[in-house]
Amino acid sequence: MKIAIAGDHGGVALKSALEKHLDDRQIEYVDCGTYTEESCDYPDFAEKACRLVQEGKVTYAVLICGTGIGMSIAANKMRGIRAALCGDEFSAHYTRAHNDANVLTLGARVIGVGLAERILDTFLDGTFEGGRHARRIEKIKEIETKNHV
Ligand code: RB5
Repeated sequence: MKIAIAGDHGGVALKSALEKHLDDRQIEYVDCGTYTEESCDYPDFAEKACRLVQEGKVTYAVLICGTGIGMSIAANKMRGIRAALCGDEFSAHYTRAHNDANVLTLGARVIGVGLAERILDTFLDGTFEGGRHARRIEKIKEIETKNHV
């Protein structure tokens, strides 16, 4: 499995911590920035990482900003992206099992490194259950194609 990881200035420290965790787990990743604590705009990094998901170059993306909210809003504007902001392991489990989420967003100013690692592990190790949940994903895709006004 290969993933993309990105953060803004509010998420850069947690991004580094999670990269170390990914190294320990021998999970390959593409670091889409940012690389310093200089103020920057989270949509730029959401777009860069989610593009890799859309192109099939990575399986998942992990996006980190202060709250995780801005990254989530930006990512969910992109076709085929199902981004879930998770602050607990239960949500991380079910967003893979039921929503087939392909992007995890995290709030670096909301949760600590230990919990973020557990959420990330739960997300990456999760499996989509399919069945009735696949029908619902299809309906989400229909909303995506129908609603261009
Ligand atoms: C940056 O100050 C902050 O707004 C950003 O990291 C994020 O929390 C936005 O949703």
